Amino acid sequence: MSDLFSLKGRAALITGSAQGLGFTIAKGMQEAGADIILSDVSKSALEKARESLRASGHDAAGSYVFDISDEAQVTEAVNAIERDIGPIDILVNNAGIHKRSMLIDMPVENWRKVIDVNLSGAFIVGRAAARGMIARRRGKIINIASINALMVRPNIGNYCAAKGGIVTLTKSMATEWGEYNINVNAIGPGYFLTELTKPLSEDASFDSWVKSEVPLKRWGDPKDLIGLAVMLASPASDYITGQTIYVDGGWQACL
Ligand SMILES: NC(=O)c1ccc[n+]([C@@H]2O[C@H](COP(=O)([O-])OP(=O)(O)OC[C@H]3O[C@@H](n4cnc5c(N)ncnc54)[C@H](O)[C@@H]3O)[C@@H](O)[C@H]2O)c1
Repeated sequence: MSDLFSLKGRAALITGSAQGLGFTIAKGMQEAGADIILSDVSKSALEKARESLRASGHDAAGSYVFDISDEAQVTEAVNAIERDIGPIDILVNNAGIHKRSMLIDMPVENWRKVIDVNLSGAFIVGRAAARGMIARRRGKIINIASINALMVRPNIGNYCAAKGGIVTLTKSMATEWGEYNINVNAIGPGYFLTELTKPLSEDASFDSWVKSEVPLKRWGDPKDLIGLAVMLASPASDYITGQTIYVDGGWQACL
C-alpha cells in the first residue's frame, strides 16, 4: 500500500508547465517522488517557473522549450530528454490555448490553430514519448481534456471540438498501446482559476454564474487536480486505461 501512489524513480514530462495547471501538476508529481521535466513554448515563462522551483529548494530535472504542435521540435526535445535525463515514464499532455470567437465569425486560422495545439499537439508529443515507452513496455500518459469535451458554451467551438477529440484520442492511444503496458487516461477539469480563464473570472457575471451553478460553489484550485494526476501516473491506476475522469466540482451532475 505504501508505494501504491508513489512516483519515486519515475521521470515525468509535463507540457505547458511554465504556469497554471501544468506547473501545479508538475509540483504535485514532484512531491509524490517524481523527477519532473518542465516544458513550454514560452522560454521566459519557463525560466521563471524553474527559478521559482529552485527558490523553494525543489529543482526540476530539466526544462525544455518546444512547441507541441511542431513535430520536428518535439522529436528533437524528446530525443534530448531521453539522452540527457533518461526515459520518460510519465507524460502529461497539458499545454493548451484558447482563441475565442463565435463560429460564424471565426477565422479558419483560429479554428486550425486551436485544433493544432490542443488536439494534434497531444498526438505528436504522445506518439514521440510512446515510442520509448513501447520499447520499455511501460508508461503512463495523461491527456488534459476539459468539461467542454462534453458540455459546450458559445464562443469556444474550436476548443470544444479539440477537447472532444482528446477524449477519443485517449481511447485510441489506450487501445493501441495497452499491449505494451502503457496506460492512457484523460482528466477533464471544470473551471479553474488560471491565466487561460482570466477573461472569465474577471467578468463579474461569469464569476457569479460559476459560483452559483457548480455544486461545490467555487472555482477549481489547480491543486484540486494533483490527487487524480498522481493516481493516474502511479501503480494505483495500473488497470485503468482509456478513461476520461472529470474534476469539475460536480458540475456535470446537475442541470
Ligand atoms: N483553466 C481551466 O479552467 C481549464 C479547464 C479545462 C481544461 N483546461 C486545460 O488545461 C490545460 C492547461 O490550462 P491552463 O489553464 O493551465 O492554461 P495556461 O494558459 O495558464 O497555461 C498553458 C501553458 O501552455 C503553454 N503553451 C501554449 N501553447 C503551447 C504550445 N504550442 N506548445 C507548448 N506549450 C504551449 C503556455 O505558454 C502556458 O504556459 C489546457 O490544455 C487547458 O485547455 C483548463
